[in-house]
Amino acid sequence: MRTAEEAPPARVLIVDDQPLTRELMTLVIRAQGHKTLVATNGEEALAIAAARPLDLVILDVVMPGMDGFEVARRLRNDERTRNVPIIIVSMLEDKESRINGLAAGADDFLIRPVDRVELKVRVQNLLRLKRFQDELGAQNTILERKVELRTAELERSNRETIHTLIRAAAHRDDETGAHVKRMGLYATLLAHRLRLDEHFCAVIGFASQLHDIGKIGVPDRILEKPEALSGDEWKIMQTHTGIGGQMLALNSSPYLAMAADIARAHHERWDGSGYPRGLKGEKIPLAARITQLCDMYDTLRSWRPYKPAMDHAAAASSILAGDTKSLPSHFDPTLLAAFKVVMAEFRDVFETIRD
Ligand SMILES: [Fe+2]
Ligand SMILES: [Fe+2]
Repeated sequence: MRTAEEAPPARVLIVDDQPLTRELMTLVIRAQGHKTLVATNGEEALAIAAARPLDLVILDVVMPGMDGFEVARRLRNDERTRNVPIIIVSMLEDKESRINGLAAGADDFLIRPVDRVELKVRVQNLLRLKRFQDELGAQNTILERKVELRTAELERSNRETIHTLIRAAAHRDDETGAHVKRMGLYATLLAHRLRLDEHFCAVIGFASQLHDIGKIGVPDRILEKPEALSGDEWKIMQTHTGIGGQMLALNSSPYLAMAADIARAHHERWDGSGYPRGLKGEKIPLAARITQLCDMYDTLRSWRPYKPAMDHAAAASSILAGDTKSLPSHFDPTLLAAFKVVMAEFRDVFETIRD
């Protein structure tokens, strides 16, 4: 076990209105190799304790002004001195003082007149305890810091992985990557409008960009065909949902878990008329419902070899009022209401991030 001599000197505050007691204690504690500070009353003691770190406080009970119990209570209630051990000095056989002292948060007691050996032993014990607590506290701080760093590192590498995937997804289907970028922004806009929590809003901004990653598994002849697809080709095209879901599902990252939901269900429709499973209503994960609406807006506004581009008003009306391309029953009504509020910002996104 470590002795007091090996440890750095501790700082002991002696609070007593009697000069003789202060001197005796100071001598004993200095002889143990520690530093001493003295206060003659409670106010002075609290001022010293607030100004510098202490390792131990020895408190007289009966003092003019604030008594020792009150000082102990205040030390215990102050964040800075909460863990500093306190020894209360009371009169012989004064049982009530001991009980009050304990209630006020004292760790140990000394009886007047103070015996040198007893003082020495009590001081030594409590300082050892304090040192142990300090070391434990320091270790905890180091551990917490390590965990924080590790979490930040994981977060960074997660994001890097996702950006790589997003580039891969864009490369396959969206030459400039503008469509997936817009998707991330639309989805974030809707999520914020729905007052979803910060985490959800941040994750969907990435995850929605991976909605079509499964197209990596769809043959070029189908993906790049300028004319309308045949029935069989269309079936193959639809497999991009399941392929994407599978690609992303085997992962513990929260980004990718949401991205897997989106990949699987971004062509499902609220009324059950979507694919691949014909899911209805809230059976479709919320992130996928959001992505579906965003994808519809962006698709309507984009030019394709087989269809002209719509302007903002036409695309919004197609979604909200319905036409040959889209019906309001395809979308979650809550999302339609949110879309109505933020659709001008959808237009800004589309017009700012061009193909
Ligand atoms: Fe898709
Ligand atoms: Fe898309």
